[in-house]
Amino acid sequence: MESTHIRELIDEVLSRRDWLKKTSAATAIAATGLSATPGLALSAESKLPAKKDSTLGFDEVEHDINDQIEVAKGYSADPIVKWGDPMFADSPQFNPSKLTAKSQAKQFGYNCDFVAYLPLPLGSRNSEHGLLCVNNEYTNAELMFDGIDYKTKWQTMDADQSKVEMAAHGHSVVEIKKQKGKWRSVRGQLNRRLNALDTRFRISGPAAGDEKLKTTDCPDGRECTGTLNNCAGGVTPWGTVLIAEENFQMYFGGDQTNHPDKDSLKEYGVGQSRFAWYRHFRRFDVSKEPNSPNLYGWIVEYDPYDPKSVPVKRTALGRIRHEGATTALTADGRLVVYSGDDDKGEYFYRFVSRDRCNNENRDANKNLLDNGELSVAKFHKDGTLTWLPLVFGKGPLTPENGFKSQADVLIRTRLAADALGATPMDRPEDAETNPTTGKVYLMLTNNDLRTEETVDSANPRPNNIHGHIIEMIPPSVRGNDQQEVIDHGSEKFKWNVFLMGGDPKDPHSGAQYHQQVSDQGWLSCPDNCTFDRNGRIWISTDGAPRSAKVGDAVYACDTEGKGRALTRQFFRACVGAEICGPCFTPDNRTMFLSIQHPAEGSSISKPTTRWPDFDDDTPPRPSVVAITKDDGGFIGD
Ligand code: FEO
Ligand code: CA
Ligand code: CA
Repeated sequence: MESTHIRELIDEVLSRRDWLKKTSAATAIAATGLSATPGLALSAESKLPAKKDSTLGFDEVEHDINDQIEVAKGYSADPIVKWGDPMFADSPQFNPSKLTAKSQAKQFGYNCDFVAYLPLPLGSRNSEHGLLCVNNEYTNAELMFDGIDYKTKWQTMDADQSKVEMAAHGHSVVEIKKQKGKWRSVRGQLNRRLNALDTRFRISGPAAGDEKLKTTDCPDGRECTGTLNNCAGGVTPWGTVLIAEENFQMYFGGDQTNHPDKDSLKEYGVGQSRFAWYRHFRRFDVSKEPNSPNLYGWIVEYDPYDPKSVPVKRTALGRIRHEGATTALTADGRLVVYSGDDDKGEYFYRFVSRDRCNNENRDANKNLLDNGELSVAKFHKDGTLTWLPLVFGKGPLTPENGFKSQADVLIRTRLAADALGATPMDRPEDAETNPTTGKVYLMLTNNDLRTEETVDSANPRPNNIHGHIIEMIPPSVRGNDQQEVIDHGSEKFKWNVFLMGGDPKDPHSGAQYHQQVSDQGWLSCPDNCTFDRNGRIWISTDGAPRSAKVGDAVYACDTEGKGRALTRQFFRACVGAEICGPCFTPDNRTMFLSIQHPAEGSSISKPTTRWPDFDDDTPPRPSVVAITKDDGGFIGD
């Protein structure tokens, strides 16, 4: 199936095995995941991995799609917070036949995505009492209201229904407690909703106050209403939460004929809204509020331990369709935030703060994310990666090329990264750092627009419908105490393909890298990931039903040693759902997962599943599940 050109590219990636082996402290890099012969499907010599090749101890779940969720034998997966659950003392009970914005604003939001577990009290590692901080990315109106059709809802939904949707967007903070081995939610004092309807956000950093951020709702460009399409996120070392505004473009509509910045609208994909909001509320109508889209596409920071704190949009981290915001440190203790721009052919970014994190005084970090350098990744075929700074006046980012200021560079981050020649990637989703090795893993979910002409060494597969995962290796340097430390602030990293998605037995999948994986263990469309205490990666998928005709699922594998990249299927979602936000408690005895949009693709009158209630009067409900081992042990062992 592959041309010589593609074979050469994959050979290039493979030929780096020895080089990586010599130069990386982690000698296991080349051990298994890349040991396949390129260009061949499962060869006669290859064998399925014996269970002993992997350090994981669970029996695999099978590829399937049905109306239930399934977790590996010996584990339980309990929904602990569901769409519509009351969160405050005065919250009304969930009533699916009478949804109102007022009720929804006091209930758990829709389509849970990113999950962070913040222990209580602040600073502890308590694994049985904490705050679950959950993004509510978007709404499926056709599964919320009677008589709404997915295709026409942008025309038919009224103002009240739109307000319910806005109130169901955003983020939910829910106190949770584990008692007698089972988790339950609590209507605690720190519970909180951030939404797209009426929550106010401060805007800070270099773009705050810029003319392009001024609207009727935001007259000074420094404070606005709402957060949109919060996808993945991150947690800072001082215990604040970062939430990423991703597909903000789909909420805006209106006539663009006289818009002053059509290039920017086009670059970010602002076109025909998928929602009816712009018909009822001027802040979503670009003909009335041309600057309004500029108020979204940022990373938002808020403090879950202070329910009165004002959430802040941090413009220094750029404006893209931010998938997530994972944090790491430079060798000298400054904060690094990695973030992918989830769109076909978009880029992978890194922010490095100017100042160091203060470990003694939490308040001293309050404005840390307002000063620093944003850069974008260029992957070279020799296996190195350079970070190109998005700094006004540097390189092509000058007035001669149409850039007016640092604020302008940040508001139009995508155009600035184009000018720098960054590497267009196959939809950069979540990125996370392995705490045991310091390596960074980037989920590239898929890209069917990648062609034989546009492949490169970091995106080596044409029509990449199954996606792949890239591993990045920051260098080690000697720290102040002469110990080796990983430097996430270095200008240059190394990189490597960790695995390619798809069924290795399918000669058309192009999943040769992954050929030793078991029949149930191969994955398609990696989206989010996290790491356990042993440095094993846990990957959740979004899109496998379409690309591979299997349910979205959670897979785990070692990142080093014999079991490297040999993913095993641990959990499977119900029909229509993707899985997001894998997150462990500090003790690794609980894993939280978001089951997003169960029954998507059907409607409330005839849903393909009624998970998790299975009650004829209750629609399917996006929910967070807590997974525990029945013997109380560590997840995965
Ligand atoms: Fe919201 Fe990129 O997934
Ligand atoms: Ca995602
Ligand atoms: Ca997703």
